[in-house]
Amino acid sequence: MLEEIKNVNVPVLPLRNIVVFPNMVVPLFVGREKSINALEKVMDKDQELLFLAQKNSEIDDPVINDLYSVGTKGKILQLLKLPDGTVKVLVEGIQRCKVEDLTITENFISAQITPLEEKLSKSKTISALVRLTISKYEDYSKINNKISSDVLSSVKDIEDESKLADTIASQINISIKEKQELLEEVNLEKRLNSILTKLENELSVLQVEKKIRRRVKNQMEKTQKEYYLNEQMKAIQKELEDGDGEGGSGDIQEIEERINKTKLSKEAAEKVDNELKKLKQMSSMSAEATVVRNYLEWILDIPWGKKKRIKKDLKRSQEILDEDHYGLEKVKDRITEYLAVQNRSSKVKGPILCLVGPPGVGKTSLGKSIARATGREFIRMSLGGIRDEAEIRGHRRTYIGSMPGRIVQSLKKVKTTNPVFLLDEIDKLGTDFRGDPSAALLEVLDPEQNNAFNDHYLEVDYDLSQVMFVTTANTMNIPPALADRMEVIRIAGYTEEEKIEIAKRHLLPKARINNAITEKEWSISDDAIQSLIRNYTREAGVRGLERELNSLGRKAVKEIAIKQSDSLNVTSDNIVDYLGIKKFRYGKKENDDLIGVVTGLAWTEVGGDILNIEAVLVPGKGKIITTGKLGEVMKESIDAASSFVRSRAISYGIEPPVFQRKDIHVHVPEGATPKDGPSAGVAMVTAIISVMAEIPVKNDVAMTGEMTLRGRVLPIGGLKEKLLSAVRSGIKTVIIPSENDRELSEVPKNIKDKLDIKLVSTIDEALELALTKKPDAIEWDEKAWLAEQKNIKNDPSSFTSH
Ligand SMILES: Nc1ncnc2c1ncn2[C@@H]1O[C@H](COP(=O)(O)OP(=O)(O)OP(=O)(O)O)[C@@H](O)[C@H]1O
Ligand SMILES: [Mg+2]
Repeated sequence: MLEEIKNVNVPVLPLRNIVVFPNMVVPLFVGREKSINALEKVMDKDQELLFLAQKNSEIDDPVINDLYSVGTKGKILQLLKLPDGTVKVLVEGIQRCKVEDLTITENFISAQITPLEEKLSKSKTISALVRLTISKYEDYSKINNKISSDVLSSVKDIEDESKLADTIASQINISIKEKQELLEEVNLEKRLNSILTKLENELSVLQVEKKIRRRVKNQMEKTQKEYYLNEQMKAIQKELEDGDGEGGSGDIQEIEERINKTKLSKEAAEKVDNELKKLKQMSSMSAEATVVRNYLEWILDIPWGKKKRIKKDLKRSQEILDEDHYGLEKVKDRITEYLAVQNRSSKVKGPILCLVGPPGVGKTSLGKSIARATGREFIRMSLGGIRDEAEIRGHRRTYIGSMPGRIVQSLKKVKTTNPVFLLDEIDKLGTDFRGDPSAALLEVLDPEQNNAFNDHYLEVDYDLSQVMFVTTANTMNIPPALADRMEVIRIAGYTEEEKIEIAKRHLLPKARINNAITEKEWSISDDAIQSLIRNYTREAGVRGLERELNSLGRKAVKEIAIKQSDSLNVTSDNIVDYLGIKKFRYGKKENDDLIGVVTGLAWTEVGGDILNIEAVLVPGKGKIITTGKLGEVMKESIDAASSFVRSRAISYGIEPPVFQRKDIHVHVPEGATPKDGPSAGVAMVTAIISVMAEIPVKNDVAMTGEMTLRGRVLPIGGLKEKLLSAVRSGIKTVIIPSENDRELSEVPKNIKDKLDIKLVSTIDEALELALTKKPDAIEWDEKAWLAEQKNIKNDPSSFTSH
């Protein structure tokens, strides 16, 4: 039988790109003439044929060497002739065969074949291999989606190991050569082994491939998504641009143009360049881009090298200062001197002017005048209540909504590098945990440092050396380091005559303009102005006066409109009709000479004022009681006064026992205004002696002076303000420390003319001037008195007699 099989001669179907395995059913397209002939021959005789793979699929007419020598014998299941002459056949492989001999004729190829016996061993190795192969195949089919789940389950059902191996071999994606090798392998174990490695290889390749594919896909998706979003954004931006002309790239272009036009410092130019680069790389809609854009806009908004021409005509400057302010001769002189020095240098030189004085004396408006006189722009920045260093120096850009400090903000407004910069109310600067603003101000005001002022927001140094700084304050309560860099010009306040002039020359015309009323329509007599000053205001400056004039102006406008009259003339007689009852009694001095009532002179933030001091004796044990919201220093000066009086009691006619029976109550009325300082010492002693010695004090005498425990009188501050207030209050005589006589030269002559100014260096001199009569010293035998005291204690009945 073997012999018989051995000698089978069958037609050969040469195959390209496929190896047919036993038990495999595959459709084939046959087009080559020889092959079709072979098929026809087989069909005629219902014969078997040999499927033999071509070594090189490109060869059309293969010769013996072009074909492998092992193939699969099989049969045709179906044959279909297609209209184009080709044939579609469904074939089934049956058995591996070895080609013994090949005959190639004109018609077709035929072969002498012998079947190849498989070496089957039913060993455990085989079943293990089979199992492994199946599971690998399973994995493989999962990744390779060309294999359907049907195929997988049918493969799993195959019981014959060899058939299983062949089926799987036919389905792996390997080269024809490799498939042929598997076909030629008759040893099942080896074949399974080989399939397994191939599967594994393929599997890992597939996995890598899958990974790559996924990555590529992701990337594709990402780029596609980005592309899509970018396009969308462009569309949105375009819409916006059409709307309000603001948008990404246009914006950047605009900034670039501005950068080119601006004379930035080298440091700023570099910084701006970097920021612009950053901005270009950002999506224009991002929050970060907004921050950077804001920053660039800030830098470009502040002035760089843009100066205003400075007027150097000193005469004209002087005229302007005179035009704007009446009086203030010394102040204006000092300002002109200062301007003269500035004219000689391009940078602002020398100490900074600091105008110190009570409210409403024209400090702020002088600052404005300086700007007008020099042709500089004017900036006013109030420092009142600034506690945070960042307000001056700005916040770092890391804060949300951060901005430059107020200095830089103000410069942005005036657009020039050389304005007059008025730092108002420098004495109201606060300090707390947020940093010390005065430290930042120091940098601003110091001419040595301010050419490189560093704002936290800007990050680059900015040159402030062209700026003319002027400061104002109500008191000398200025941080010492700052005070050191400033030259203080004091403005004490105005006399009544000055106020009248200021009102007539400046305030009245201003009030007319404010109320749109002409000189013809509204006039006010000099005595009405005086009454205004005396009865409706009590101030060192003229702000209240200005306010009252404005209110009069308003009323005039109203009256003219309602009564249809032509004009209104305000006089001292009819002023009450417009402004109501008098607010202040002119001259607060007492009408009679009283015991224990003394007029002191005080100096407060609002200028000088008179201070009524009252002392009374109340039953008690020699304590001192003080009321009237007094400061520590003033309380101490009352204690000192009391001790002084005790120590010298008998020389003022006071019997010492009174200190054991009475308390002294000292009261300073008008508790709303805080009072402090030692300069009421002389007045306190006078009040206490007056009440204890029962001698009245002259009502038209006012006094000021600090005193020592030994009765010396020490100098005081604010003399001019105090004298002004004395005149305002109708005082005739003032007692001042003799050491203050130097300052008298600064007091206006018309003030000095109205006052009888007495210089004293001891309390006794002061008492002589203030009391209506000199106290008489008494004899006092202390020992006798003490002995008497003892007797009283031993004899209780004597109490009644006392
Ligand atoms: N000598 C003067 N001549 C003309 N007008 C004056 C004079 N002094 C003050 N004024 C006017 O008085 C008003 C108040 O002055 P200003 O506001 O400058 O006071 P100030 O000293 O700054 O007070 P404050 O300490 O309260 O800030 C302004 O309208 C100012 O023009
Ligand atoms: Mg002011």
